[in-house]
Amino acid sequence: MRVRLKGDAICTLFLLVALCSLLYSQLEHLVPVENKELTPKKPSVTPKIFSDPKAPRRPMPAEATVPRPHVTPVVRRTEVANNRVPTTTPSPLTDSAFKRYLLNKDNRNFNLLINQPKKCRKTPGGPFLLIAIKSVVEDFDRREIVRKTWGREGLVNGEQIQRVFLLGTPKNRTVLATWETLIHQESQTYRDILLWDFMDTFFNLTLKEIHFLNWAAEFCHNVKFIFKGDADVFVNVENIVDFLQRHDPTEDLFVGDIIYNARPIRVRKSKYYIPETMYGLSIYPAYAGGGGFLLSSRTMRKLSRACREVELFPIDDVFLGMCLQRINLKPILHEGFKTFGIVKPSAAPHLQTFDPCFYKDLMVVHSLKVAEIWLMWNLLHSPRLSCTQKKQVKKPFQWKNKAQTTPQASHLR
Ligand SMILES: *[C@@H]1O[C@H](CO)[C@@H](O)[C@H](O)[C@H]1NC(C)=O
Ligand SMILES: *[C@@H]1O[C@H](CO)[C@@H](O)[C@H](O)[C@H]1NC(C)=O
Repeated sequence: MRVRLKGDAICTLFLLVALCSLLYSQLEHLVPVENKELTPKKPSVTPKIFSDPKAPRRPMPAEATVPRPHVTPVVRRTEVANNRVPTTTPSPLTDSAFKRYLLNKDNRNFNLLINQPKKCRKTPGGPFLLIAIKSVVEDFDRREIVRKTWGREGLVNGEQIQRVFLLGTPKNRTVLATWETLIHQESQTYRDILLWDFMDTFFNLTLKEIHFLNWAAEFCHNVKFIFKGDADVFVNVENIVDFLQRHDPTEDLFVGDIIYNARPIRVRKSKYYIPETMYGLSIYPAYAGGGGFLLSSRTMRKLSRACREVELFPIDDVFLGMCLQRINLKPILHEGFKTFGIVKPSAAPHLQTFDPCFYKDLMVVHSLKVAEIWLMWNLLHSPRLSCTQKKQVKKPFQWKNKAQTTPQASHLR
């Protein structure tokens, strides 16, 4: 009898362990590992996120006029993944890097080595949208794919688009020997390179931010709107232009994937570790995920002045949030900005995450590989793209549905 009881207990225990490990592996599934390099930009840590994934939903602002995607992610994987940041990301913020940062903190004026002074003078009245993309010298292939896809210059929905890449000098001394001629050649060919004389490191991204804003205020004051983002994003420029056409560039506007109430990470090992001596408050001001955001001409000019008065901060997204706070401007959250990637649509399992229909209504999606950017752009601009809903399939002639999508495809070059 005793033996049997013991056997039952062991059996139950075994089953419990099996169940737990199964659950755990499911959770692992929700948090893809390749996500780790983009997650830490969102330093807010909300414990207990697993037990209540719907709780931290952010309110939809009235400004967000672009239709929401048909699928709603159940768990925002970044918010989940955040919990892992301190332990999984190797820290570039070693003591020496941090000391170097503190030493150089007051040095904030660097020369512009390559300029494009005529960038915004090509069209009378200035460009409608300037696309400014953070890149590093070594990433030639990324720049090339962006030029050939969403970052194209020219007309989109009748509006003039221009493009610049924002670069510092490479930190890798090995590439230093060859980069100089190459980057000058690239600049001659495309006329879209801005290069400043500071080392292109993670902590110096804030320098990139302020130098770009100053450049825009000086050389591109006639622009109507600016999109600023990373080179590993996919941007639906047609949707962005459509959204911006309903706004006034002489008014304030700052739109993106806004992060509210993020807490500074006090874990020393984290990439985003910020000691209390550097930032004493427990919460950061609202800021936009650096993958991509939009601002109006007026806001650009105000920010370029305001940022001069804000002490440098090692996380560039948060730094810009501080500048926004200084001019008393509330950034607007837009659901079309997925700067932390998108999750598998559990609400619509028949769709793949890499389905162009998934990207059709979005504005910015973060973390795409070079080939994915190229493929997505071509899929989205294919005249055969048809994103009909299941309920519409009942109609007898399917190609009639396709006709609805062609007007949209025709104005894209
Ligand atoms: C610097 O670049 C060279 C050549 O591309 C590469 O082999 C090397 O691993 C890089 N070094 C570092 C520290 O990244
Ligand atoms: C930023 O760039 C400057 C100038 O190149 C350099 O001296 C400094 O070490 C860089 N800062 C960091 C934290 O990398």
